[in-house]
Order: sequence, then C-alpha cells, then structure tokens
Amino acid sequence: MIERLDALEVEAARTMDVARDALALEEARVRWLGRKSELTQILRGLKDLSPAERSTVGARANQLRESLERRYDEIRARLESEGPGNGPSPGRDLTLPGRALPRGHEHLISQVLDEVQTIFHGLGFTLAEGPEVEDDRHNFDALNMPPGHPARAATDTFYLRSNILLRPHTSSVQIRTMESRKPPVRIICPGRVYRNEAVDATHHFEFHQVEGLYVDENVAMSDLKGTLDTFLKAFFGRSTEIRFSPSFFPFVEPGAQVEIRCFFCGGKGCGVCGPLSGGWLEVLGAGMVHPNVFRAVGYDPERWTGFAFGAGIERLTMLRHGVPDLRLFYESDVRFLHQF
Ligand code: FA5
Repeated sequence: MIERLDALEVEAARTMDVARDALALEEARVRWLGRKSELTQILRGLKDLSPAERSTVGARANQLRESLERRYDEIRARLESEGPGNGPSPGRDLTLPGRALPRGHEHLISQVLDEVQTIFHGLGFTLAEGPEVEDDRHNFDALNMPPGHPARAATDTFYLRSNILLRPHTSSVQIRTMESRKPPVRIICPGRVYRNEAVDATHHFEFHQVEGLYVDENVAMSDLKGTLDTFLKAFFGRSTEIRFSPSFFPFVEPGAQVEIRCFFCGGKGCGVCGPLSGGWLEVLGAGMVHPNVFRAVGYDPERWTGFAFGAGIERLTMLRHGVPDLRLFYESDVRFLHQF
C-alpha cells in the first residue's frame, strides 16, 4: 500500500505540473483528490485495515493528500497571476497586441549638424573639436584680439573667471588645431557657443556654429568663395541666392559676411530677416586668415595662406526648414520637434 501511495504521488504531481490552464488543473484535482479518486478510496478504507497498517498507511495517505493540496494551491495561484482564462481574477492577456512605445528621434539641430559635416567631408574637410570652456588666449589673443582690443567686447562673452570663459564662437578651435598640427590643414569644427545676448527670433544666448579652416600654400579668396558657394548650394539647393559683402573680423583680412536671400519674404524684409535687412539674412562670417593669427600659432605667414569661416547652425536650419523663430528649437515642444 505504501508503495502504491508513493507511485500515486509521482503520477499526481506530474499531471498537476503540466496543467497549462485552470481547466486542466481542475481535472487533475478531481482525478487525484476528488471524491472518487484512488487516494480518497484508500483513506476511506483505512478503517478496514489492521491497527498497525492503519497507522502507517493512514499517516502516509494524509501526508500525500496535504502535499497534493499544497501543490494544487501553488499552481492555481501561478496560473491566476499569469492571465485571464487561467483563473478567477483578471490578469494580463498575453494574446493582445503590444502597445507601441513613443519613439524619439534626433533633434533637428543635430540632423543639420550631421548634414553640414557630410557636405564638408565630401569637400575634403575633416572633423576637429575643442572645449566649450575656453581661455583668453585661444578665444581672443591668438585670434588677433590682444587685451584691450575693442572687438573683445563685441561678442558679449560669459566669463567664468577673469581669463576663463564660455566660448562665444568656434574660432578658438582654429587656434587649437593649428597649434597641434603642421599645415596643410582642412578642418571643420561644429559645436555649441554662448553669448550674453538678448533673445529674439534670430538670436539666442546658446547656439551652434560650424567653423571651417583651410590652410595651405596659395589659398586664395576665390577658394573661399567657391567652397562656401558649393556648401550653401548643396545645403539650400542650386537656385539659392547668395551674397558676399565686406565685413570685419580681427582674425581675417579681408573679411566677409555671407547672406542668403530670405525665403520667408522673398527679399521684401520681414520679422525674420529684419525690416532693414533688405531681405537678406546673414548666415556666415568668413575671410582670409590674418598673418597675425599664423604668427600666434607658429606658422610662417610668408609661406602659408588660408581661409576661415563660421556659420550659425540655427540660422541655416531656420532658412532650410522654414522655421520663423529659433526659440522653437529649444522649447522642447514635441509637437514642433516631431515635424522633422
Ligand atoms: C563669428 O562668430 C566669427 N567667429 C565667424 C568667423 C569665423 C568669421 C571665421 C571669420 C572667420 P559672427 O559673430 O558673425 O561671427 O557669428 C557667425 C554666425 O553665427 C552668424 O552669421 C550667425 O549666423 C550666427 N549667430 C551669431 N550670433 C547668433 C545668435 N545670438 N544666435 C544665433 N545665431 C547667431
């Protein structure tokens, strides 16, 4: 009898363990613990056994019933927690289709930075980087703006200490690159810059520039014009109207500002390009590298020539995507950002 109970335990446990839903488990319970089950019959027949047998068989049969009931309770609880249809309480329905999580994407400014880099890579420019927290020397002195130079005030710089600042332009990377490399040099440096400026539709205190620098023998202004013309037409389209006009930056001579015909008003003058702009929006500063900059980094200005430029990424993006106010880029409004 004891052997039969041992065998019953193995069979009953196996049947319960393989039950995949409440119905199968219930069937197993009825079969092994129900009124007509073999175990119940054995318990009922205990009274007919001899006193010695009754005590050993009774103890083993009761212990088996308790262990099967415990097993049944555990399996039922597990099935109930796994989902509806498996037990009385509602749970997860594994057959329902999944809920799609909202997916983010690259910010428009990052997309444009990538695109600008790709265009310049195609023109043979490699990537250079520099720190956003800069010192006086790389940001001003070596760029032909010694202490007291009036142009130092023009960029409205945020100072962290007397000679440490948040870079107001990426031109400091020109200096760092030339200090660490011999010519020829052909780099672009995209990055974030900071200026203590009042914010409006075309100005922010934190924005992005991409700096370009090309140094070699016999580099001419025509190389600069050709490079920027190629870039701007690749970026905005072949029919883009581009204008170069004289401008002053201490680190270039001659200097130029490059403007694009305003796409919003077609050149009449509007809130984006400004009523006095004549319909042109400035996107770039550029020029031929000043001999004093070459001297500051130990390049021979008699031998080396070069051009440099710095473009505002937000301005390029506004024009390219028809965004009338650059503040929209930084308000983290997903209704705006999802459009791009
Ligand atoms: C410069 O920062 C020079 N370092 C550019 C340069 C490099 C000139 C190399 C010559 C040679 P500028 O201050 O004009 O120049 O700024 C360059 C561009 O940054 C502007 O044409 C404009 O597109 C963008 N920009 C300037 N100020 C802001 C601002 N507050 N918010 C958004 N974009 C700005």
